Amino acid sequence: MNYSDSLNLMHEYTKSDALRKHMYAVEDAMRAYARKFGQDEEKWAIVGILHDFDYEMYPTIPDHPLKGLEILKSKGYPDDIRNAILGHATFSGVHRESQMAKVLYACDELCGFISAVAVIRPNKIMDLEISSVKKKLKDKAFAKNVSREDIDLGIKEMGVSPEDHIKFVIDAMKSDAERLGLKP
Ligand SMILES: [Fe+2]
Ligand SMILES: [Fe+2]
Repeated sequence: MNYSDSLNLMHEYTKSDALRKHMYAVEDAMRAYARKFGQDEEKWAIVGILHDFDYEMYPTIPDHPLKGLEILKSKGYPDDIRNAILGHATFSGVHRESQMAKVLYACDELCGFISAVAVIRPNKIMDLEISSVKKKLKDKAFAKNVSREDIDLGIKEMGVSPEDHIKFVIDAMKSDAERLGLKP
């Protein structure tokens, strides 16, 4: 199963435009980090594009992502991809061992948060600064369904500075702003 099969699989299960865009954003962040770390870009992109592919059909814990993981297993997706996806489900208690799993977890909620901040701005993501994202992270009433705890823990596990990580993810998303609907 290559990237294009995985994209098709995600589209087959996910009709919501917002949810598709969320997975595109996580794909963008995963690709950028794979390049930075000299890892397998296609594999990392697949993890990003598929991590919530079952969410529309199975939105509750533990069905998401366990049902999806069964489907991926039946399609022959390897352990490392499935383990990384399992790792973004905090309820599972699974330890995120691989770098790929850690990066997925660190990017998932942050991508959602950056989209929420960017979408209401006149220039969307194009002139979004780290400071605006940090300010909104402190505003508990803003995008309150985005877990700040997950974002903080993800950053800690990756061992990066929050500023560097936020900047890196903004840049990755900006490079694909059109597809993400974040271009004015
Ligand atoms: Fe998820
Ligand atoms: Fe997600």
